Amino acid sequence: MKTKNLVTISDLSREEIFSILRLTQKLKKKPLAKKHKFRNKTLALLFQKPSNRTRISFEVAMVHLGGYVLYLSPREIEMGKREPVKDVARVVSRYVDGIVGRVFSHKDIYELAKYSEVPVINGLSDLAHPCQALSDIFTVLEKKKTLRNVTISYVGDGNNVLNSLVMVCAKTGVNIKIACPKGYEPNKEIYDEAVKTAKKNKAIVEIFADPYEAVRDSDIVYTDVWVSMGQEQEKEKKLKDFARFQVNAQLMRTAKKDAMIMHCLPAHRGEEVTDVIDGKNSIIYDQAENRMHVQKAILLKML
Ligand code: CP
Ligand code: NVA
Repeated sequence: MKTKNLVTISDLSREEIFSILRLTQKLKKKPLAKKHKFRNKTLALLFQKPSNRTRISFEVAMVHLGGYVLYLSPREIEMGKREPVKDVARVVSRYVDGIVGRVFSHKDIYELAKYSEVPVINGLSDLAHPCQALSDIFTVLEKKKTLRNVTISYVGDGNNVLNSLVMVCAKTGVNIKIACPKGYEPNKEIYDEAVKTAKKNKAIVEIFADPYEAVRDSDIVYTDVWVSMGQEQEKEKKLKDFARFQVNAQLMRTAKKDAMIMHCLPAHRGEEVTDVIDGKNSIIYDQAENRMHVQKAILLKML
């Protein structure tokens, strides 16, 4: 793989994405196939925010590859507070073979990547969540057996998860229909690039104001929280603005009969989604499990 860092999905070519998907298919069948590959390799997880899936899946992936992980919680390093991000990047990269960063501001992951001497992987920033999107597209492929003529509808906030999802769909030729309230659209630059990329790959990217229109005849309905980590003070306003954008049984009836439900988790039942995510068409736990298999492939390609 040519790319040194994985900051956004745009760092990967279409071919690189498919190569990660193929390697993941093999690794999911044989999780310990590369169990000595990372002997003496260390991965640092530099996290400014809490995490269940991202942290654990990276840790277990490294164990399966025979490597070692250092989890550095917000209290340890105090990146940007105790010392500038560029010094953290320069110092930590002298000790370890790769860094996964989870940050509030995308600028910080960008700085980490700029000044690090080892590969930096974005484990979530306010702009992007590329590892999530790669696992999502792997899950779609696993469930639908193909990425051709597949349509995902994303209902909710135009946030980090959607920014990465829209780009991975565009690059892999999956149609994505988005429904979000006015003012909560995905990042404009990413969206415009995704529209162009999707066209080349014969896929459609479209935004709707009405969730029912976006979901009509869809294969998969995807949502994420309305209030992301760090946005707690906007909660009251967002709950009002997003009231029409809940994924519930009524909305699901507009999608295809066997339509599946995806959510990156954590979910706020009663806000962006109801208990439909506990139903038989929900694939949220496979989606969560796949984080580990996909990230193992990412690590093997990058470190
Ligand atoms: N989906 C996801 O990234 O979950 P965590 O925040 O628990 O890592
Ligand atoms: N949009 C959510 C995703 C969590 C995995 C957040 O940023 O909190």
